[in-house]
This record gives sequence, C-alpha cells and structure tokens, in this order.
Amino acid sequence: SIVILDFGSQYTQLIARRVRELGVFSEIYPYNLNLDELRAMEPAGIILSGGPSSVSDENAPMISPQIYDLGIPILGICYGMQLTVHLLGGKVEKSLHREYGKAYLSLMKKDSVLFQGVRDNSVIWMSHGDSVLRVPEGFEIVGKSQDGVLTAIQHTQKPIYCVQFHPEVVHTEDGRILLGNFVKGIARATMNWSMENFVEKTIEELRTKCKGKRVVLGVSGGVDSTTLAVLAHRALGTDVKAIFVNNGLLRYQEAEEVLANLRDRLGLAVEYIDASDRFLSALEGVNDPEQKRKIIGKVFVDVFYHGLSDFDFLIQGTLYPDVIESNAVKGPSQTIKTHHNRVKEVEELEKQGKIIEPFRFLFKDEVREVARILGIPEDILGRHPFPGPGLAVRVIGDITREKLELLRKADHIFISELKVTGYYDKVWQAFAVFLPIRSVGVMGDERSYGHVIALRSVTSSDGMTAEWGRLPLDILERVANRIVREIPGVNRVVYDITSKPPATIEWE
Ligand code: XMP
Repeated sequence: SIVILDFGSQYTQLIARRVRELGVFSEIYPYNLNLDELRAMEPAGIILSGGPSSVSDENAPMISPQIYDLGIPILGICYGMQLTVHLLGGKVEKSLHREYGKAYLSLMKKDSVLFQGVRDNSVIWMSHGDSVLRVPEGFEIVGKSQDGVLTAIQHTQKPIYCVQFHPEVVHTEDGRILLGNFVKGIARATMNWSMENFVEKTIEELRTKCKGKRVVLGVSGGVDSTTLAVLAHRALGTDVKAIFVNNGLLRYQEAEEVLANLRDRLGLAVEYIDASDRFLSALEGVNDPEQKRKIIGKVFVDVFYHGLSDFDFLIQGTLYPDVIESNAVKGPSQTIKTHHNRVKEVEELEKQGKIIEPFRFLFKDEVREVARILGIPEDILGRHPFPGPGLAVRVIGDITREKLELLRKADHIFISELKVTGYYDKVWQAFAVFLPIRSVGVMGDERSYGHVIALRSVTSSDGMTAEWGRLPLDILERVANRIVREIPGVNRVVYDITSKPPATIEWE
C-alpha cells in the first residue's frame, strides 16, 4: 500500500483517490504518525502531502528526518517538498503570499523515472508559496517552472522525489502519469485494489467475524446505508437485522417506499420503528435550525441506540471523509466536524469492540460502485441526497404537522414532474421549501392570504458547491400551477436562483 502523511492540505484525500484509481490501496494518516508504526505497516511508498503551513513557522508540522533513511520510496508534494528540503539541509524561502495557479513545467532531467511520459511544457498546478532556494546535498534539480521556480527535485541515490506542484489535481495535465510512475515504477506497490476485490474481501471478513452472531444496522433508504445493508445481507443472510426509524420528517409516502424497496426488492429483513410522535413533540415550537438538528440527533440516539438490545455487532456506514475529518490534523485551514456516527453511545460500543465500519476506507463514488456490483437498481442508487434532519430543515421556522403535510404534497408534485420529464436524474437535488410567510393573492373573486412554497433544484458534483438548476420554464410553470391548484392554502410559488456559495443548498 501507499501511506499518505497528511499535513493538512485540502487535496490530501484527492491523492488517496488517485492512488486507488491506479489500483493500489492507500491510506491517509496524520503527519505525526509514529515511525515504528509506519515501518510496521510496510508501505511500498510514502507520500508527504501539501499543507497550509510554512516550514519556518513556529509550530510547523514536522516529521523525524529518520523517515528518509527507512529505504521506503518517498514523494513529497508542495509542503512535503519544502519540509524535505528543510529537514535535509537545504534552504526554503518564506514568502508572504500564497498563490495557486497554472504554470508550465520546464523539464531539465528528462531521464528521471518520476517524469517518464510527463511532457515538457505541460501544465502544472503550482502552489507558489514558500520556494526552495537551495537543494540539500545529494539532490539534483529535475524541473523548474517557466519562470524559474524550482518545481521538482530528486535524490541521486535514494528513492526520494519532491514536486512543488500538485500532481493530484486534474489541472496538472500529466499528474496521473507522474503518480503512476511513483506508485508503480518507483514504489512497485502491489496492485490489488479494485471494488470487486473489496466486495469479495469484505463479505469474507464479515462472515469470519459475524457468522452466527446478532448483527444490527440502521437504514434510511439512502445509498450508503442501503448498500451496506445489502452487502451485510449477502455476507450473513438472516443474521442481519436492519432498523429503519421514521422520524416523522420524511417525504411523501417515503417510509412506505423505502420499506418496499428494502424488503420486497432487495429482500432485507427490516424492523420498522415509527417514532414520528417523539420527534415531532420534541420539536414543537422550536424555530432555530441548529436547535432543530440537535434535538433530532438526540431523539435519534434515544430511539435507535437505547432501543438496541441483544446484539453482538452494530454495522455503520461511516465513509472515509468522515473518518478523516474526525482524525484530521488540526491546522488553520481545517474545519473539523463531529460526525453523528461518532456520538458518545457509539464510542462506548466501540470500546466494547461492537462497531464494524466496512466503508471506513471508501469514498462516496466507490460506494456507488459497490452498489452496482451488488446489483442494486439504478433508481435506488440515483436517489437524491436527503438530509438526516429531513423536512425539519425545509419547514422554515417552527414545525407543525399541517405544514409538513402541505410541504410533502408540494414536494411530491415537483419531484413527480421532474421524474416524468427526465430532469430528476439531471440534477443533484431538488425539493420544495415551506416559507414562514403569507402573501396576498386572488382566487376566483376573492382575495386570499396564503402560504408560499419555494422550489429549489441544484446541480453539483459533490454538494460542496452547487449551481442553481436551469430547469425549463414550462416545467416550472406546470409545477407552480399544480401546487396552487391542488394544495388548498398555497397561493404562491417561487424558484430559488442562487448558487452555493454564497447560498447553501438547504434553506436552513
Ligand atoms: P448545504 O445546505 O450545507 O448542504 O449546502 C450540503 C448537502 O448536505 C445536506 N445537508 C445535510 N445532511 N444533515 C445531513 O445529513 C444535515 O444537517 C444537513 N444539512 C444539509 C444537503 O441536503 C446537501 O446535500
């Protein structure tokens, strides 16, 4: 495998993905991983990531220089390069500004193994922060940028390579080739990472660990938990019990649909807990969105974890980004969030060895691939993301059953029209929002004073940024007409045309 030591770059996860795309398993660890532990993992290669720090900062993240004597091939990227130069006796110059941008590679040593197949003058994505003024003894210069900035160096005897640019981002034209050269040519890592392999191995592991034991897992109807449930079921059959909690904040006929999908189409044993009343009464009169989220989280823990008894293992669908975020290097550019899969109750169970997280090394799109391998139908796979707090964050202000009912109808009309016209699969998410205002209208001869529904649809590749959805106007018109005609009490529909940033996808 390839071990990536994380110095806090926003691109660290991308490095891991690129390595896996090459068919090689890679894992990310905090930069301060103990050297003995590192050695014990016997990685084929080590990649030192970029990071926001400057090597001359007082608290700059450091590693033991002994890492360069392990005999394991090392690739330093950006901060990883500066750190290597700094630790091995070269000179790094601090600059005040940190600029990212396009540059052109000027290759000086064309026979470098790292650069085989990488084109001279190809585009590289630089991070002009600190720059290397003098290379350490034993190193040679392999490349510069067109304006003379040192961009690549290598040791003449040891397998130590450094690049100032980011080969992991797509803007670096031949970045994949370079990483391939390091992973396969230099580190000679075993190529045994494929999703088929992962599925097979995970099924085997689950069987070894859990066969004949009582296993539970939570399902929501979303892609991750559904895939996990199918995988566990494939491995363990009826030893698995999936639990589906209805929090009263689901969409139109969603509970029925999810149950039918899981039970009838996927053949899973699902226990259904309708806790709607508990959630809705806990939310009564609550306006603040964060407060709503907290209450929902707490009631969920009460209903789900405290309701559990008589089980040996709890399987969770925690993904790699959640794991990384929870263990992340605390640097200035990091925002660390506590994931709901890591609440106190889970930590207790973890201590008892009762938690299993088969997806803890997977990225979202890898889970989708697992789902395809398992034969989960595309319509289940293609479901839009739906937030844990559900409609609670789509009824702006305090929540009542009446508002929820009205919102469900509006949302259903919108989604149905998008499905009929094929637009459902073209957007990342689409939904209706219940606004806490009333507006004047005329219906027949009478003035009305009715509710307002906002429609939102966005396109996105990961939910981090999003563009407002350019839906055809005739679809929007039909949806608006149906909503005001079919839902008494609603007399106005608006469409949200803000992107993220500055807006978020959800309204709360
Ligand atoms: P925002 O609104 O932050 O949403 O642009 C980004 C993505 O996350 C979903 N979302 C949530 N998911 N709990 C969740 O599980 C939440 O509290 C939550 N808030 C937003 C949102 O639907 C979008 O896909």
